[in-house]
Amino acid sequence: MAPHTLLVHAHPRSDSLTAQVADLAHARLKDAGGTVDVLDLYAEGFDPVLRPADEPDWEDREKRYSPEVHAHMDRILAADDIVIVFPVWWMAPPAVLKGWIDRVWNYGFAYGRSKPRLAAKRMLWLALMGQSAQEIEALGLSAVVDTQLRLGVSEYCGIEDASVRIVYGTELSGVPKDRRPERVRALLAEADAALEGVLSR
Ligand SMILES: Cc1cc2nc3c(=O)[nH]c(=O)nc-3n(C[C@H](O)[C@H](O)[C@H](O)COP(=O)(O)O)c2cc1C
Repeated sequence: MAPHTLLVHAHPRSDSLTAQVADLAHARLKDAGGTVDVLDLYAEGFDPVLRPADEPDWEDREKRYSPEVHAHMDRILAADDIVIVFPVWWMAPPAVLKGWIDRVWNYGFAYGRSKPRLAAKRMLWLALMGQSAQEIEALGLSAVVDTQLRLGVSEYCGIEDASVRIVYGTELSGVPKDRRPERVRALLAEADAALEGVLSR
């Protein structure tokens, strides 16, 4: 059976490069014969602030969280694959995405069980970074996103088939205006190659 993918993206503008990469991912997943649930965190108005209703109770992993969180958990459970497209802000996911993880990837659901419920899923974190790979390397930060998300979230939740792919150099202000369309095409081609590597598994 063709896989069902939860495609999450997080960007305030629908004309952003991030949104274009998310659209590309959507098209590629559908072309591959799968079904896709698109979760645009900004468009859906997701509230990233963790309040007491969604705070883990370390003494009760069966805790009933808020209805909004359980609705998101159901969308994750329904998916074979989870693809998350986002810009890197301060070497981390945007707050709306971080809050989605804080609230939804909760104790008893995503972690805290001897048999992790999400272990069989496959996951791709597709990140866009303004700086070049060389600039990130020079800062000694090359592994930060991979460590935070693949190890810190996916593997912590038992998901072994997880990867982080980064499209670098997305900041276009230094590119002359007449060369930007060509640069955007090259960045989208890189995102496409990153998707291909994962979708063809
Ligand atoms: C608040 C903020 C923080 C950012 N932090 C980083 C960063 O730590 N590293 C980096 O390479 N780019 C950083 N950027 C640049 C974004 O990654 C870049 O704007 C984005 O990938 C471009 O895609 P977009 O057109 O979809 O926004 C930051 C941008 C913003 C708005």
